[in-house]
Amino acid sequence: MIQILDKIFHLTNGDFSYSFYVKEGKLYHSYFGKALTVSEEIATQSVLGRGLLINCGRDAAQFEMPESGRGDFRVPAAVVRSEKTISADFTYCGYEILPTKPNFGMPSLRDGGETLKITLKDDVLNAEMYLYYTVFENGLARRSEIKNLGKSVLYLDKLSSACVEFPKGRYDLIGLNGRWGRECNIVRAAATCGVKTFSSVRGVTSHQHNPFVTVAEYSAGEENGEVFGLNLIYSGNFEIECESDEKSQLRVNIGAKIMHGGIALGKGEIFSSPEAVIVYSDCGLGGMSRKFHRLYRKNLINPAFADKIRPVVVNSWESCYFDFNEDKLLKFIDGAKGLGIDTVVLDDGWFGRRDNDTSSLGDWFIDKNKLPHGLDPLISRCKKHSLKFGIWFEPEAVNPDSEMYKAHPDWALKTDGREGIRMRNQFTLDFSRAEVVDSVFKMMSEILSSYDISYVKWDMNRPLSDVVSAEKYLGFVKGVYSLYEKLTKAFPDVLIEGCSSGGGRFDPAMLYYSPMIWTSDDTDAFERAHVQYGASLCYPLQTLSNHVSVCPNHQTGRTLSFHTRGAIASLGCLGYELNVAEISEEERKQIAEQTALYRKDAEVILKGDLYRLISPFENGVFCEEVVSEDKSKAYVVFMRGLNVCNMPLERVRLKGLDATAMYYVKEKNVKCTGADLMYGGLCLEVYGEDFGAEILHIERTEN
Ligand code: GLA
Repeated sequence: MIQILDKIFHLTNGDFSYSFYVKEGKLYHSYFGKALTVSEEIATQSVLGRGLLINCGRDAAQFEMPESGRGDFRVPAAVVRSEKTISADFTYCGYEILPTKPNFGMPSLRDGGETLKITLKDDVLNAEMYLYYTVFENGLARRSEIKNLGKSVLYLDKLSSACVEFPKGRYDLIGLNGRWGRECNIVRAAATCGVKTFSSVRGVTSHQHNPFVTVAEYSAGEENGEVFGLNLIYSGNFEIECESDEKSQLRVNIGAKIMHGGIALGKGEIFSSPEAVIVYSDCGLGGMSRKFHRLYRKNLINPAFADKIRPVVVNSWESCYFDFNEDKLLKFIDGAKGLGIDTVVLDDGWFGRRDNDTSSLGDWFIDKNKLPHGLDPLISRCKKHSLKFGIWFEPEAVNPDSEMYKAHPDWALKTDGREGIRMRNQFTLDFSRAEVVDSVFKMMSEILSSYDISYVKWDMNRPLSDVVSAEKYLGFVKGVYSLYEKLTKAFPDVLIEGCSSGGGRFDPAMLYYSPMIWTSDDTDAFERAHVQYGASLCYPLQTLSNHVSVCPNHQTGRTLSFHTRGAIASLGCLGYELNVAEISEEERKQIAEQTALYRKDAEVILKGDLYRLISPFENGVFCEEVVSEDKSKAYVVFMRGLNVCNMPLERVRLKGLDATAMYYVKEKNVKCTGADLMYGGLCLEVYGEDFGAEILHIERTEN
């Protein structure tokens, strides 16, 4: 709901209130937190009161969209310059309420209703700024725009999608930081005086920093306290700056990062920031995650898939790498029969002359040396076993050793006069050029329309380098979205699994197109428990693609039980990444059992509410619970850490159940109330194999 009273703007969904007001032409932020429940008049007055108290000069004031060079010396959210000046000062002109959230050509939350549009103007720069706000059941969407009204060129160095100002307080900042193979570590630190930045200049969102931050009151925990989550629906360079000032006020700017040189805006041109999503919770991090998850399931993920149970896949990568031929793949497909697997995915190596990673990216036609009869024999064999078929692409990449590069060396991102930097022996295509995107689309369409393919794994295996301008970086990301648009329109039934050397591009814009993302290249269950736990801070389990792989694990060399591997992988989109043609009978039995169980539990796992009960970041012990929306079922996975002698019992108190209802815990053969399970808890076995796992099924029962 949008309430407006004499230049006071109050946005609320009954759960949170967000408000700001106009004073002497400037837009001041006044409140973000639990919904103000008093009458509209009192609520907005109290909001105004707070605003007035802090409005003691620009350097201490809390602004909706702070600019640079006009007396506010903290990190600005907008930096615009002209030939005349490098300062900006936008003042309020008016507002509109748009009936629905306008489409602005980039992925954003879907089905947004009434949208508040604020117009501000800087007469010296001769530019207008527009701020957009849409309230959702579980959060707030914000973005901004700048339009050059004048004849002379304007330069834009920064335009945050949103700035959120927090009043004097003690805050912690929580980011999801990592590296290849170990994405999404939860890093929590006090917001002390100064600026803390989470960002990427890699051209993609990156393994290093996710475009996500949580501001938590210092005492907030997993299920208590006020927390505010900010996430950017964008897949390129981004910047989240958090400045705690000398008065312990906190400013958070979130937006795309515009690189050196800035963006030049000609007469009438508009720059649109990507959309930021802002979520408030007074039930700690868990409450915030559940809101993000609901919001993304309902308003972000492609509706064609958001409600569907994901197929259980077996992927060829770790079992074959580049080394396969028709015969080997037919055996692989035969091996997948009878295991409860839905889809066989042929990973890298099927195209061009790709025997290793030095060649053929860009040549999206079948390698007839490896597959002399094309994909037909493979797909027919899949059909014979009632399996579907999926295939891998890396659309944005080109190897210098490829037909594509030989024909179009200028298609790769490069600076004239310099050798391009190679990473994994490859360049990145200049997707800011429509003809490049069109040509890749043509090749991919050729494969997807010639064969019965229901699944695509879309990979992206290197950051960008040799980009000639700030505009190119933005154009590249838009080009990626345009290819996604074309493909999802032309092949609406094809499920796309996103990937970027694992979770190097795990962001909401990718989720808009690819309903699930390969969470990490690290398939070791102990490591994966950390990555999945971290990713779940913001992203729903139905977006995490997790595979059971062979042991000793290829990334860590560790051997964990098949059961543990299955239990951890089941917390998301379960799949397999091992040679099903060569595994033992015992392993076949276990896969068949795991997939059968998973199928029964998938509705709860993929659409339920997540409760993180024990964090692996503390001592390696892990426990997560998913509860169905109607609270009738719960699915719990517990993983022990490294065993030591004389361990204390691990008592896990469940959450989210109906306290008065009776539940049956299948694996313990126990009947008790929700209260017993939530307040008394269950004792889980800590003695046994290192990293052993338990799965518990809890179901509401009559008495
Ligand atoms: C990336 C992906 C892997 C696999 C390889 C293939 O590393 O993350 O899953 O697809 O590329 O080259």
